[in-house]
Amino acid sequence: MSTDLASVLDSRILPVLTVPRAATAGPLAEALVQGGARCAEVTFRTPDAEQALKAMATHGGLTVGAGTVLTPEQAERAVAAGARFVVSPGFDAEVVAKCVELGVPVLPGIATATELLRALRAGIDTVKLFPAEALGGVQMLRSLAAPFTQARFVPTGGIGLAHVSAYLAHPAVLAIGGSWMATAAHLEHGEYAAIRRLTAEAVARSAA
Ligand code: 3PG
Repeated sequence: MSTDLASVLDSRILPVLTVPRAATAGPLAEALVQGGARCAEVTFRTPDAEQALKAMATHGGLTVGAGTVLTPEQAERAVAAGARFVVSPGFDAEVVAKCVELGVPVLPGIATATELLRALRAGIDTVKLFPAEALGGVQMLRSLAAPFTQARFVPTGGIGLAHVSAYLAHPAVLAIGGSWMATAAHLEHGEYAAIRRLTAEAVARSAA
């Protein structure tokens, strides 16, 4: 696998998706691409997640990864379904080792300096700061980033359009993630126009 996280996330906005039914994957991918997204994370939180990931991975225009990957077995299934990167809410050495073995970029979650130290020692320099807003938002990010000059962050959790500029202005932030562009309610009700609009707003804000 030749992709690395920096190139996957170069568009700086990572929509996090909890897809209720695989049948929604096609129109969802279309709405995200039309909104200007270039990557997306399909969480392993619904029975249809693998099917949805497969369908979205074959849709042109999006680099699709798997999220909420909690075990090495899920990492294997995610890659088999076409995931080009793997995201976890926390840091687990076995999940990270499995992703390294599979040759897939991995973005583990951290919430403390100790967890970040562990990730760095496992050879990971880009982490998901989760749950970013509940941890203290941009102020927490600044404090945590200061002693770890080599670390890069993808803050996720509680983020909305209003927070985009402040996070992305920090030099250690590679990208931000969030579900606000395509919420469970949007997906449940097939609100693809709203998904397109919210994605386009986020993408425009990220470029501002
Ligand atoms: C995740 O899995 O990354 C989070 O659930 C996304 O957080 P959000 O729903 O608060 O955006």
